[in-house]
Amino acid sequence: METRKRILTGDRTTGKLHLGHYVGSLKSRFELQDTYEEFILLADIQALTTHFDNPKLINSSIYDVTIDNLSVGLDPNKVTFVQQSQVSSIAELTIFYSMIVTVNQLRHNPTIKTEAQNYGYEDITYGFLGYPVSQTADITFCNADLVPVGEDQVPHIELCRKIVRKFNKLYGTSIIQPQVKLSQVGRLSGLDGSAKMGKSMGNAIYLSDTPEQVWKLVRKAVTDPARVTTDIPGHPEICNIYKYHQIFNPEEAPEIHEGCTSAKLGCFDCKKRLNVVLNNLLDPMRERRAYYENHISEVKEIIVEGTRKANVIGNANLDAIKEKMFLKI
Ligand code: TRP
Repeated sequence: METRKRILTGDRTTGKLHLGHYVGSLKSRFELQDTYEEFILLADIQALTTHFDNPKLINSSIYDVTIDNLSVGLDPNKVTFVQQSQVSSIAELTIFYSMIVTVNQLRHNPTIKTEAQNYGYEDITYGFLGYPVSQTADITFCNADLVPVGEDQVPHIELCRKIVRKFNKLYGTSIIQPQVKLSQVGRLSGLDGSAKMGKSMGNAIYLSDTPEQVWKLVRKAVTDPARVTTDIPGHPEICNIYKYHQIFNPEEAPEIHEGCTSAKLGCFDCKKRLNVVLNNLLDPMRERRAYYENHISEVKEIIVEGTRKANVIGNANLDAIKEKMFLKI
């Protein structure tokens, strides 16, 4: 009998994952896979909310995202990979929850607002506005206790808890209100100095990048603009590369700080050191990736089997919920 608590988290299948995803969620998934029963959702329906016109990308990204997760060291014998569109209880729960969430709750969701702006939407679709509702269904179809995500997802988990409270009160169900597990690192800024590392912004280091691609981005990254020559002391507190050292190279960060402020360490050498650190992190991922890329049918089997297991759990939960809602005759 399974006694561990459950984690559910996931990724939209709109492309490969990068270091921002890694520090935001994948790292915790890896660390928690022994203590929790983990479900990793391949969110292909949520991908449709913004990429409905590119179904082929969504299809190939289901594999890419699964391999990205496996490359980080998630063990397919421990964690369950779930293809969202193939779990009908998620779709049905989405409909039920949509009856009790209000349009204003969704319209005022700060993440929805920012994303709509970033995508340049003048008008938004019903599905895009409602994706936090479908995310609530993602989390609750299996009664997850904990959701490891980055800070931009917090409004969605708060709304999820609200919906669940209201639903339980109305129908006497006992769906679990999930907790957020926030990553220690806030948001990972882009190497170009922009606020966020993002797929669409050309500033991302992908988990699947080659050493050459990593160096290309690190080499041209923005540092302290006032430090035009190496003999001028730098200001690590405003330097992106230093921020990355703090996150990915915490042991050496104090020494790098000292080298920069005393003008002993130049930006180029500082970048070279970061490059080594990043590749040390990525090398074992590259090795695992190579295995799975050569065994694609194994990857498919992992997804199919995990989704089958999720359906068993989801159908049982949905059945009990329908009973409580007097939908059974
Ligand atoms: N919205 C999440 C993101 O953009 C992905 C996601 C979909 C998710 N369903 C989820 C995250 C359920 C946590 C739980 O990253």
